[in-house]
Amino acid sequence: MTDIDQIKAEALSAIGAATTLEALDAERVRLLGKQGQVTALLKSLGGMSPEQRQSEGPRINGLREAVSDAIASRKAALEGAALEARLASERIDLSLPAPERPRGSVHPVSQVMDELAEIFADMGFAVATGPEIEDDWHNFTALNIPETHPARAMHDTFYFPGQMDRDGRRMLLRTHTSPVQIRTMTSQQPPIRVIAPGRVYRSDSDATHTPMFHQIEGLVIDRGIHLGHLKWTLETFLKAFFERDDVVLRLRPSYFPFTEPSAEVDVGYSLKDGKRVIGGSEGWMEVLGSGVVHPRVIRACGLDPDEYSGFAFGTGVDRLAMLKYGMDDLRAFFDGDLRWLRHYGFQALDVPTLSGGVGA
Ligand code: PHE
Repeated sequence: MTDIDQIKAEALSAIGAATTLEALDAERVRLLGKQGQVTALLKSLGGMSPEQRQSEGPRINGLREAVSDAIASRKAALEGAALEARLASERIDLSLPAPERPRGSVHPVSQVMDELAEIFADMGFAVATGPEIEDDWHNFTALNIPETHPARAMHDTFYFPGQMDRDGRRMLLRTHTSPVQIRTMTSQQPPIRVIAPGRVYRSDSDATHTPMFHQIEGLVIDRGIHLGHLKWTLETFLKAFFERDDVVLRLRPSYFPFTEPSAEVDVGYSLKDGKRVIGGSEGWMEVLGSGVVHPRVIRACGLDPDEYSGFAFGTGVDRLAMLKYGMDDLRAFFDGDLRWLRHYGFQALDVPTLSGGVGA
């Protein structure tokens, strides 16, 4: 056997014996690397006589080709085996039980707040917030409800006895979201278009009242705003919320110290199998209070009522949720009963969108 034949036989058997990619690569370096055995033979061609080169050239080149082919095919084989092994070890057993569904659910109040934010965002309203622990100036005085006003007694306010803020104002739990009107008007310039959702508190408790409940306030302040804008906004909002075009509104004259004129808004319902269904006008349900912002409120916030006007409304979120999703006991909202939450709760991915009908 010539030298080259022997080198080739040894090389091919070493390649075949490599059982890992690392071992194979070491062989490649030993044979074809810069200092490799085959490389050295190729280099030796330069020092040969033309005749010698003619006979040895094809043999050495043939050796190089055979070695690199053998390395390539061994590499493919080792990689294939590695993949097979991985596939075998990472197999998924499809007969295993599926993971449990997530158990938590979104409370109807949160869901309805998200629906409302979505509807009003589409009409260009931003979301404003204010503290739940308020002072009596924001909650009452600035809203045209002075100390001696009978409306103060109507609100069943929770006061913090003996607690005053730096300006000597009595502290309380806000009785409505209307103080956010004041906080918004004193901190930002018109045009103002905000909604303010949040918790409010009144000392009141029976089947239809809980000491804590949720409201959402709406406020628009700009030049030339009038009752017509209020009516359009409420109609558009209630149709989008109840996902029906046949929602009928009834504006009833009413009284709030901070709006003039004031209107309470009823939504018409019809009776289907003894159940109230929104739409039609067989009966009426009160859903919100509203009106044109009183000039005194605008002035209390440092704005000129001759330049700016606006409208405001406030509605009970819990009540809207009850009407839309057919729940009839308000207290169940806050009992934390898991069966109730599972039944009336929403999936976390059920994000309200206008295109899907907000409640989809
Ligand atoms: N704040 C009033 C309430 O709680 C509702 C309301 C808000 C009325 C804004 C008119 C304008 O009953």
